[in-house]
Formats: sequence, C-alpha cells, structure tokens
Amino acid sequence: MHHFQYKDGTLHAEDVPLTDIAAEVGTPFYCYSTATLERHYRVFAEAFEGTDTLVCYSVKANSNLAVIKTLGDLGSGADIVSEGELRRALAAGIPPERIVFSGVGKQAQELAFALETGIHQFNVESEPELELLSQIASNMGKEAAIALRVNPDVDAKTHEKITTGKAENKFGISWLQAPRVYARAAALPGIKVAGVDVHIGSQLTDLAPFEEAFTRVASMVEELRAAGHDITRLDLGGGLGIPYRGTNDVPPPPADYAAMVKRTVGHLGCQLMFEPGRMIAGNAGILVVNVIFEKHGEDRSFLIIDGAMNDLIRPTLYDAYHDIQPVTETAPDEARLTYDIVGPICETGDFFAKGRTLSAQKPGDLLAVMSAGAYGAVQASTYNTRPLVPEVMVNGSQFTVIRPRPSYDVMLEQDRLPDWLTN
Ligand code: LLP
Repeated sequence: MHHFQYKDGTLHAEDVPLTDIAAEVGTPFYCYSTATLERHYRVFAEAFEGTDTLVCYSVKANSNLAVIKTLGDLGSGADIVSEGELRRALAAGIPPERIVFSGVGKQAQELAFALETGIHQFNVESEPELELLSQIASNMGKEAAIALRVNPDVDAKTHEKITTGKAENKFGISWLQAPRVYARAAALPGIKVAGVDVHIGSQLTDLAPFEEAFTRVASMVEELRAAGHDITRLDLGGGLGIPYRGTNDVPPPPADYAAMVKRTVGHLGCQLMFEPGRMIAGNAGILVVNVIFEKHGEDRSFLIIDGAMNDLIRPTLYDAYHDIQPVTETAPDEARLTYDIVGPICETGDFFAKGRTLSAQKPGDLLAVMSAGAYGAVQASTYNTRPLVPEVMVNGSQFTVIRPRPSYDVMLEQDRLPDWLTN
C-alpha cells in the first residue's frame, strides 16, 4: 500500500499533484511520501508488538536525513554500514543505543568513531575484524557489544547480486566455524558477546529461506548457550521483499513474516532486532521523469526520457522491473503503444523498461517510475556529468525539496586543475 494515487486524472503524492512538483523543481526528481514511510514502519513494528524488538531501518536503502528522521521519530533505530551512514543516523537524531553497525569491511577509524558514540551493537563478519575491534575497544577503555554475523549457507532465491547467505558469498562467518569464533570472542578484551546476526539477502519473496536460516540460527543459539555464552539478542537482518508489479506481486505480508519469526526463534527469549530497508522505503518513493522524444525505430518505438541509469540503476544492474505510470491518467478507451523506455546516456544498458505498454506519450509528458524509494537515489551517480537528481518529500498537502539538484557550477568546482596545466 502506498500513497501515490490518481485524483482528478493526475497522479498525486498524497495530496500533492506531481505536476505541481515538476513545475517547481523540474525533472527528473525523486519524490517520497511521508505517510507511506510511516505506514510501512508501523506495519512492520506492530507485527512484533508485545515482543522485545528493535527495528533498525537499514539506512543504505535511502539515507536522506529527512527519511531517517521521519522513521526515527516513530522509534526506529538504524542499521548502518559506514561512518558516513553513522553520521547521517546521528544527524537525524537516532540515539546511538538504537544503532547497529553491519558490513564486511569496517575500518579502524570507523570502529573507533562508533565506539566513541556508544552504539548498541557491532555485527562482526570476520575474525580479523573481531581482533581489530577488540584492540581498539580495549585501547579506548570501552567494551563493544557484538553479534557474529553467521553465514547459514541458505539460498535466499533472489537475484544473484543481492544474495548474501550462501557459503560462496563474502558475507558473515560460516555457521560451521561460528562456535569456534564465539569462543575466541569471549576470550578477547573489550568484547562482550551479546547476540547472533544473520542476513541472507534482499527482495525475498518467499518465507521458506528465512525460515531455514532462522531455524539454523535458533539451534546455534542453544548450542552457544550450552557452551556458556550469554546470548540475549538476535539480529535477523532485513530482506523482506516488496511488490514491484502492483497487485500482480504478492510478497509475504509482515504479519506472516512475524508469525514465522516467533515460531522459529520466539522461544529463545532474545531481544529481536531487524534491519528492514526496502520494505520501508521502496514503495514510499517514485522517480518522476519527462519524455524528451518519442522515436519510432525499425521494429520498436522508444520513449527517450530525461531520467537515466545514473539516476536509477536497478533495471540495468539487477534486471529489476519497475512499474511506469503516466502522470496523466490513461482513459479506459485510450489506445496503448509498446515502448522501450530509455535514457539519454550513451550506453545500451541505459533503459528503465523494455516492451512496456502505455498510452501514447509525447514530449513533455511526465512518467512516474514506481517503487524507487529504496536503492534509487542512494545508488545514483553523475555519469555523463548529469547532476544528481533532487529529492522531494511530501507530507499531506505540503512538499519540500530535501536535497536540491546541484548546479553545474557546483559540479565543476569539485575538480582541480594541477599546477602543470594552469601555468
Ligand atoms: N542488513 C544488511 C546487512 C544488508 O546487507 C541489507 C541490504 C539490509 C539489511 C537491508 O535489506 P533490505 O531489507 O533492504 O532487503 N541495491 C540492491 C539491494 C542491496 C541490498 C544490500 N543489503 C537493490 O537495489 O535491489
């Protein structure tokens, strides 16, 4: 469920016509709906009501301060993977005791900064990371609460580039090695073993792989407790999929996910931590683009739009499907055409959709690329010296630019000419 609907023939974000935003901000732009972000957070959190739960929104999905703060104000914590994301979470007002630090390649200065701020937990992904954290924490006179991220060797049955829980993936510590590494962790200064962490992938549309992984984790917790470890927390990661094809896609509802979680690990009495990203932000954002040309080729028609792969890389990187809706509602009897919807970048991979059936579009028409709130703006680049797309947040009938489009002057000022080229 999201709050991008047609009203009087025009697609709105909540109560704001997208045409109004386009007129003020220009295209392309990302547009986020506060009501949708809030709804998704609440649906997830409420599914665990009555259990000791910490929902840590995965900042990587959409790290705009306004998005993080919207969720933080509802009680969300943050899952971060870099010092930059930690700084964002703190700047958005997330208390350190609701922050968990994930990631395979944490560096010394990042660990020190996180220890300084006093975050809730470090999810440790290797023995060298554990040793480094121990060394830094003990030098600082601090104790780091840790979970080992366990790799359960379970196939998440999602796109290969977002599968993380197989033995061949770089993530986590093999569940077979984990008991030995826990014993090592317990003996290290500056380390407090607190929990177990698992995250097997993203955009999972079936609960079975989760269930397999969580069941494996539950027996591991019992084994670790028997070995004397005080395991009080379970971080079950993110990964719950969202509908990208409107009502044709039916990923598991959060309530079913929660029931499965309680069934598999509920008896352990741990604090349950979660790191949802896409599930919260994905359908809370769209990318609005403008048609530049309609071009009729030999065997197909192209809509050339002003958004491109640098703005939203998901279609070309993950073969991802995004619904594309004309901002002006299509009349039921209007003729439909089939288009490849492509951007201006000089690469064949620069497309948003192929063979998509839409009402006839002409230059100046606006299109909304749906489900672009997660892994959209955060993965954008300035390839082809295209300015980063601005981000807009809507709340009821109000809207605000929460990141402006940089000017070309600002972009060019980033570069420096060396002395030998200026003399
Ligand atoms: N926790 C960890 C340790 C993760 O690596 C991720 C995502 C999450 C939580 C959040 O997962 P989510 O709930 O959003 O599925 N750029 C890709 C997705 C990459 C996911 C990376 N890790 C895409 O556009 O599909």
